[in-house]
Amino acid sequence: MGLPEGFRWGVATAAYQVEGAVHEDGRGPSTWDVFAHTPGRVRDGHTGDVACDHYHRWPEDVALMRELGVNSYRFSIAWPRVQPSGSGAANPRGLDFYDRLVDALLAAGIDPAVTLYHWDLPQPLEDAGGWMNRDTAYRFAEFAYRAADRLADRVGMWITLNEPVVVMAYGYAFGVYAPGRTLMLDALPTAHHQLLGHGLAVTALRSRGARRVGLANHYSPAWPADPSSAADRDAALAFDGFMNRMFTDPVLSGAYPDLGALGGPGLAPYVHDLDMSVIASPIDFLGVNYYQPTRLKAPPADGPLPFDMVDVTGYPVTGMGWPIVPDAFLSLLRALRGRYSNGLPPLYITENGCSFPDEVGPDGTVDDTARIEFLDAHIAAMRTAIDDGIDIRGYYAWSLLDNFEWAEGYHPRFGLVHVDYETQKRTPKRSYGWYRDLIAASSK
Ligand code: FCB
Repeated sequence: MGLPEGFRWGVATAAYQVEGAVHEDGRGPSTWDVFAHTPGRVRDGHTGDVACDHYHRWPEDVALMRELGVNSYRFSIAWPRVQPSGSGAANPRGLDFYDRLVDALLAAGIDPAVTLYHWDLPQPLEDAGGWMNRDTAYRFAEFAYRAADRLADRVGMWITLNEPVVVMAYGYAFGVYAPGRTLMLDALPTAHHQLLGHGLAVTALRSRGARRVGLANHYSPAWPADPSSAADRDAALAFDGFMNRMFTDPVLSGAYPDLGALGGPGLAPYVHDLDMSVIASPIDFLGVNYYQPTRLKAPPADGPLPFDMVDVTGYPVTGMGWPIVPDAFLSLLRALRGRYSNGLPPLYITENGCSFPDEVGPDGTVDDTARIEFLDAHIAAMRTAIDDGIDIRGYYAWSLLDNFEWAEGYHPRFGLVHVDYETQKRTPKRSYGWYRDLIAASSK
């Protein structure tokens, strides 16, 4: 079977990972600026101060995308550029940047897909409690309103949140990402407040004319370490609730999954009247970010969580050490359809990709055959899901460019285009040519 009419082939980036220019045009500090500048937080002290200098080099990057043939670009708007203090009037110079970018993309035949929150919370909001504070949800809706007010006439697709589970878990529970808090299970309110922010933002976006609105979640199939062990199966179920359902069930079916395995009162104390119906505001699509499955075993008796993660073995791995399992991607897509059936909106694969230690060879090329194999196998899995009747309307490769990979700094290289951080020279890798040919062939 072919791809659906109008299928989107895209590439994705996020503001803090590529833009740089952190002090320009009135941008305020974000949690990631503060985190990255705190010694010991990011590998080798790397920061996003310059990143890929996309803030200045975007015309070259748009040209690279036009040449690649993608018909959509997923990027994020830095909240601290639009509202440097996290609330109040918009900073017009911050919005001007995205305005120019959107116009240039449209002129190149590339539909902008905007993420509003890809983890760069304005630091003043963090100082007031960040996502632990319910008020941040209202501030987020206000930001969404201001962004859409300026751009919704030209932006076809809006993603409110990117991977709220990672913000909750890595940012607030384990402290390995900004803002670096180690609240463990006390971080749970950040789930509810992000989701409330999502629901409020859906209404704010639509009120300014946004046409297609959704969110992008991170999914990882949960495998019991020993499928014959009931305790390991319980651990996998608990992880599934936490990772795959906590941010999807409420949006698609208006209720949190059973979080009893986590112990304590769960999310109930934070849910006010009507919150769940705000969170379940109808969306037009669900964004799926997929990288790898996770293997779980029963935790030790005194463990803080109802699961323990163990390595997935027996598969090749990426430069991050992540197992390469395209079949898990297919089973995830089938599981989503099985779980939500008629309630499942159209899907977009909003991220999928891999890092490898790519280098520019003596002949000036970057031979990243392993990335080609990764993308080829995952796109094949997606096509099988489409053949199964799952409504998937687009695929965004992570990422257009090598970029700032959060706590790992510039070490991992996820791009279809290599970036030399000394010179900012872009070198399309072999995978770029491969993706270009795939897009050209599939649009015939
Ligand atoms: C995802 C993030 C994205 C990128 C990839 C590798 O979790 O959304 O920004 O870092 O992982």
